[in-house]
Amino acid sequence: MWQTRSKLKEQNRLLTESVTATAVMVNERDEHIRALTESKNALERKLHERDEHIRALTESATAMELRLQALTKRLAELEKQNQFPVVLEARRHLEKALARVSPSQPSYGSRWQPQIDAIRRDIPALRDSMSCLHYAQKEITFDGRPPFPSNLMQIQFREWAVENEFPNLIPTLRHMYDNPLSYSESLGEFNGRTVSQIFYCHARIVLAGITYANRPKRILEIGGGYGEIARLWLTNSTAPAESYVIVDIPECLFFAEVALRAEFGDQVAYFEGHDPGTRILLVPIPYLGDLTRSADLVINTGSMQEMTDEWIDFYVGWLTKYDTRYFYSLNYIAQPIAVMGESRNLWSQRLGSEWSTRHLRLNIPLLDLEGPARDFLETLYEKSPATRRLKEWSIDRGHILSKPTYVEGLDLLRQDFTIENAKLFVGTVMERMPYHPKELLYVVEWLTRQGESEFASLRGKLRGELGGFLSHAPAPPKVA
Ligand SMILES: C[S@@+](CC[C@H](N)C(=O)[O-])C[C@H]1O[C@@H](n2cnc3c(N)ncnc32)[C@H](O)[C@@H]1O
Repeated sequence: MWQTRSKLKEQNRLLTESVTATAVMVNERDEHIRALTESKNALERKLHERDEHIRALTESATAMELRLQALTKRLAELEKQNQFPVVLEARRHLEKALARVSPSQPSYGSRWQPQIDAIRRDIPALRDSMSCLHYAQKEITFDGRPPFPSNLMQIQFREWAVENEFPNLIPTLRHMYDNPLSYSESLGEFNGRTVSQIFYCHARIVLAGITYANRPKRILEIGGGYGEIARLWLTNSTAPAESYVIVDIPECLFFAEVALRAEFGDQVAYFEGHDPGTRILLVPIPYLGDLTRSADLVINTGSMQEMTDEWIDFYVGWLTKYDTRYFYSLNYIAQPIAVMGESRNLWSQRLGSEWSTRHLRLNIPLLDLEGPARDFLETLYEKSPATRRLKEWSIDRGHILSKPTYVEGLDLLRQDFTIENAKLFVGTVMERMPYHPKELLYVVEWLTRQGESEFASLRGKLRGELGGFLSHAPAPPKVA
């Protein structure tokens, strides 16, 4: 009995143990299942959170895109309304001036017409003052502005060349500086201010005008490029201009307007038939006939040389009527007929006998530094009847006929222009001059127009020599 009880007890214990072990296992599995369920829920929560995050991101990206679109639209509106009023106004002026060009106006010739076509093509893409200035300096032959030289002696020579000519105006030169908005590769520092290589040519013209024309206060410039000579004349410390008028082709005047407005603001006005009396006045050719503002001095530099004979006749006629005391010219002369280069006429300095010559200088040291392959004549004329005669020509007093004496004789002929003198001049130049300068052909053509038919064959011969016209090809349009 005791044994049976103890056996049963043992069986019961074993059973209890086995039940307990099974219960523990069941518990553990439950625990595992619970843990798995929890981790599944956590993953589901995380997935949900990520979906939420993606949705929020998409919403904010859409909002940002809408904002960007609104900003771009606003910017375009601002640009249209306010951003570049100077350029927009210059474009408006240009359109209006072009609408006034007479159909009978002479062609600008093969030097300028291709450039004018390029300017018309490119102006719509020029959006601000700086891009207009850089375009004028790099793409158009206004002044052939080169990069700043790496060898500073190039600049030193130019400074010396100008100082040597105008020692009285050295402090004035030292106060002058180039337009700081010019394209940066052309600029450098010298003697404490910003200059460029071409700056000296512009500055020298101002110093020559101040020196030879008695410190003129009222200047009119024919063919003013992008306004750099004007800028220097208006700001020089010795005789700053009180009135500065530029007359130019409308397309070219656009660049002077933008550049001068950037510096002088409301002191600049564009002439459309009415003169508001501003210090600076820009006159496009189609309005020139309506201009009444007078000047002490008219200047033309590096410009008439590139105009056709028709335009020279036009300006000679205009200058005769215009109310000015002096006319200053710095243009090519005496090129061989066979090597015309950029010249587009046979004689640039052919004013009538209403003008006396006060200053005549062949070749300028500074310009020889720029390119010694051409001859420039610097002249100052005063509107006062000419009194000199061809018989004063120094070749009749022992001088040989060289470039300087040729130029002297040509200027005497200009003042004393008769058929007899023209014949004498042509005979002398044909006999004694070692080459045929272009003005010789002009005089021969003039003689044939006067009915002097014996010059027809010489005319044909000299015409046959004409050569070397350089047609400037502007850069092709830029691919956007
Ligand atoms: C080579 S740039 C000289 C610019 C400036 N005078 C200088 O010395 O730096 C020639 C200038 O003459 C102007 N020009 C050319 N043909 C012209 C014409 N028929 N009437 C007025 N200006 C003209 C051009 O537009 C340009 O401004």
